[in-house]
Amino acid sequence: MSSQVFFQIQSSFILLLMYIGIYYRQFPTRHVKLMVITIAWDLILILQIELSRGAIKKAAHSVVNPTFLTIHISIAVSTVLLYFGMIYTGRKMLQKDYSVHKAHRLMGKTTVMFRTATYVTSFFVV
Ligand code: HEM
Repeated sequence: MSSQVFFQIQSSFILLLMYIGIYYRQFPTRHVKLMVITIAWDLILILQIELSRGAIKKAAHSVVNPTFLTIHISIAVSTVLLYFGMIYTGRKMLQKDYSVHKAHRLMGKTTVMFRTATYVTSFFVV
């Protein structure tokens, strides 16, 4: 199995876990567990990709489809930034501060859309 296939399989499971986590959004214990695993695994996947072939380096020198690659990397980086927002607002709610509830929900929808877009665009850049 090529490392590319291995990465795509992991990415599929991560996305699936995220959807399951959203499904359990009304059950904080299960939701938080699933989302923490999702985010941690996604960060580990990025690390694996970067360490194995230098994604940033590839992006800088790609001639295959630079436009798609730029779009893909931009969405992927935004997703990671959104993860930190999700953890911050999620932790606030766990501390009974529900003033961030709307922000968590809005950012949550954006995060799912961005992570899905990262997944879809990844097929165009390999
Ligand atoms: C990508 C990551 C995440 C996404 C997409 C996400 C999404 C959501 C969504 C859509 C809701 C329901 C909001 C509503 O309509 O009421 C929710 C609720 C919640 N989330 Fe997250 N979340 C994520 C990560 C986290 C993390 C990391 C934490 C904790 C550290 C967290 C804690 C919570 C809590 C406490 C609730 C409220 C549950 C309740 O009492 O009903 N979430 N989340």
